[in-house]
Amino acid sequence: MSNSLTKNEYNPSELKDDFIKTYGGTKDEIKLFSSPARINIIGEHIDYNGGKVFPAAINRYLYVAIRKRLDTKILYKSIQFEGTHQFDINDNFTYDKKDDYANYLNGILSQLKAKGCKFDCGFEVLMASNVPAGGGISSSSALECGFAYAVSETFGFNIDRVEIAKLGQMSEHRFMGVNCGIMDQFIISVGKEKTAIVLDCNTLKYEYAPLELGDYRFVVMNTNKQRRLADSKYNERRGQCEEALKILQDNGIKINALCQLTPAQWEDCKKHIADETIARRVRHCVYENQRVLDAVEALKAGDLARLGSLLNESHKSLDEDYEVTGIELNTLAATAQKQEGCLGARMTGAGFGGCAIALVHKDKVGSFIENVQKEYTETTGYAAGFFSCESGNGVAHFN
Ligand code: GLA
Repeated sequence: MSNSLTKNEYNPSELKDDFIKTYGGTKDEIKLFSSPARINIIGEHIDYNGGKVFPAAINRYLYVAIRKRLDTKILYKSIQFEGTHQFDINDNFTYDKKDDYANYLNGILSQLKAKGCKFDCGFEVLMASNVPAGGGISSSSALECGFAYAVSETFGFNIDRVEIAKLGQMSEHRFMGVNCGIMDQFIISVGKEKTAIVLDCNTLKYEYAPLELGDYRFVVMNTNKQRRLADSKYNERRGQCEEALKILQDNGIKINALCQLTPAQWEDCKKHIADETIARRVRHCVYENQRVLDAVEALKAGDLARLGSLLNESHKSLDEDYEVTGIELNTLAATAQKQEGCLGARMTGAGFGGCAIALVHKDKVGSFIENVQKEYTETTGYAAGFFSCESGNGVAHFN
C-alpha cells in the first residue's frame, strides 16, 4: 500500500492501538483492511448503459479494523464520527436514516445474509478514513467494499473481488435506494497500483491498463458542495436512459444497452427519439463511450495532450447534454482547463457537486492549485479542496 500522508491524514499504523483504546483487549485478534477511493478518468454515466469506463483506484484509503466477539453484538465506531452504532447479528437489518454511515455496513450485512452467509458471532469495528465523505471519489463504495471484504475474510466466506463489487452494488440498490452502476465498487475491489482498468460494463470483462503519465499527475479538485439532490437526480437520469432504450428497441433497433450504438448508428436512429432532452442524454452516452476507447488508445500511445482534450470534451458533454454539473464543477473545470501545465479537466463520478480531476504537469501543481482556488472562491464564496494522487490498490488486508 503506497501512502504519502499529509499531517491532517490518519496514519493507519495507529489503527491497532486506537482499536485497543476503543474496545480494550489485546492486538492479536484484530484484522486490518484498507479500501481505496477512486477517480474515473473518463466514461461517465455510462456504466449503467453497458458502456466502457476507465477508472483507477487512488492512494487515498479508508481503513477498517475488525475483531470477532464472543457474543452476538455488533459495534461500529469511527475515528472521524462520534458515537457508537450498536446492533445484533441476528437483527433484521433495514435502512434507517438515524443510523447514518452504519446503513452502508448494515446494507452489506443484509446482502451477505441474503446470499446465505452464516455468522457464528458478532464483531466490533473501528474505521478511519482519508477519503473525503460525500466528495465524489466514492467514499461510500470504499466503505461498502472495504467492510464487505473485511467481514468476508474475518468470517472465512472468501468471497472473490468481483462478487464483493456486486455485493456493494446490490446493497446500494436494495438498501440505500440508489440505482448505481457497478463502476465504483468494481474498481475499488480490483484496482492495482500503477494501473487503471478498462471495464466493459455489459460483460464485466476488464483489463488493467498501465497508467503512465510521465511528468503529469491527476489532481483531484473537490467542490466541497453537499450533493443533496444527487441520488434522486441520478435515478432520474438512469430512468431517462431506460426510456430511450425502450423507444429504440420498440422501433426495431436491436440493442440491449445504449452504449452498443456507435456514434454513426446513433446519428442514423436518433430520429426515433422525439423528446429533445432524452435525445441529448443518449448522445452523451454514445459519444462518451467512444471517448473512452479513444482515451485508452491515447494513453497507450503516450499522447497525453489527446487524453487531455478528451477530458475536456467529456466535461462539456456532461454539462450540456447530460446536465449533471452545476456552477461549482463548471467553475473548477473551466478554470483548470485554462491553467498553464494543465492538459485537460472534467468532473468525475456522479456530478451535481462532488469532485473534478485535472491532468497537470508535476512542476505546475502548486501554482495550478493556487490559481484555481482563487477563482473558485471568488465565484462560489467558499474554498475547494485539492490533492494530487497516484493510482492505488483495491481492497486489501494489511498488518
Ligand atoms: C456514481 C455511480 C457509478 C457511476 C457514476 C457516474 O459514481 O456510483 O456507478 O454511474 O456515478 O459515472
